[in-house]
Amino acid sequence: MRILGIETSCDETGVAVYDSERGLLAHLLYSQVKVHAEYGGVVPELASRDHVRRILPLIRQVLADSASSRDRSDSNSIDGIAYTAGPGLVGALMVGGSVARALAYAWGVPAVGVHHMEGHLLAPMLEDNPPAFPFVALLVSGGHTQLVKVEGIGRYRILGESVDDAAGEAFDKAAKMLDLDYPGGPEIARLAEQGDAARFRFPRPMTDRPGLDFSFSGLKTFTLNTVAEHRQADGLPDDQTMADIACAFQEAVVDTLVIKCRRALEQTGLKTLVIAGGVSANRVLRQRLAAALEKVGGEVFYARNEFCTDNGAMIAYAGCQRLLAGQQDDLAIRAIPRWPMDTLEPVRQEATPAQ
Ligand code: KG4
Ligand code: ZN
Repeated sequence: MRILGIETSCDETGVAVYDSERGLLAHLLYSQVKVHAEYGGVVPELASRDHVRRILPLIRQVLADSASSRDRSDSNSIDGIAYTAGPGLVGALMVGGSVARALAYAWGVPAVGVHHMEGHLLAPMLEDNPPAFPFVALLVSGGHTQLVKVEGIGRYRILGESVDDAAGEAFDKAAKMLDLDYPGGPEIARLAEQGDAARFRFPRPMTDRPGLDFSFSGLKTFTLNTVAEHRQADGLPDDQTMADIACAFQEAVVDTLVIKCRRALEQTGLKTLVIAGGVSANRVLRQRLAAALEKVGGEVFYARNEFCTDNGAMIAYAGCQRLLAGQQDDLAIRAIPRWPMDTLEPVRQEATPAQ
């Protein structure tokens, strides 16, 4: 089964063609980062308009790159379309959903609306060594921080989540305080490499009490106060202090995530951890989790960097599993800005790992 995947939930237009027999055939991404850079965050209306501009040329190109035919009698034609139906920015979701539904109607193929976080969660399945169910997933993106027990596709139990900011959002806000570009995660990570981890110690929120929830807003205030204490005439701390703050911030977030992951694995008795979403691209987080899991005879899995952040491949893969299981939507365009993941329909058969 050959699926066209479309992702437009936020500020990246992602498209991909995934084939259940042959694996990922092609994928393309257009990032709107430059459009939103001067505002320090995503402007929803600008995001929607830019998706409108980019989506059709990208789809034409990905169909050509994957040598997919539009003729249903060809063996290499598209058999179905998967699009991100939520959660996300409603206008941005509407663009991908409208295009997906219109193409599905025109081509006479089914379409399915995919949950964005399920896409992230399943992205490591596109790698050569995919994780096996059941596992614990740490979902860390710009909008979500969740620990999920995953029994199979669509069988999710939320073990804990952030009561305020998401981990990625905390990175982005801390970066703004240090006058770094958006998105802030990769910028903080780069600056932290020059930092001295011993100079400042930032709090590890909610680790001193039981439970698997997270809170990152206090860490944000702590960062703001530390920046203010070391401010110079130009309004920012000196270069070394900036790097030391970035390092202390990253250490605190990573340490907090590692503590909670260890706890979730102990609680569930599982030894497999999957990390997904933009923050799972963080090198220090990956290293610390790998070390923590090695100690208990477990293993951590994640997607290649380009599939940690938003992309079309993860949507094509997740949608393909649902369409293979016979699920498909009616003709309505689905755009669900808030959509709890534990309300998804389970998929009976297990995922087929990508080739
Ligand atoms: O999954 P994603 O692309 O979009 C959402 O669904 O939100 O995640 C984007 C988030 C941003 O907050 C960005 O700063 C963060 O992921 N991020 C990182 C890194 N790369 C991206 N955070 C920390 N370290 C990184 N290397
Ligand atoms: Zn995402």
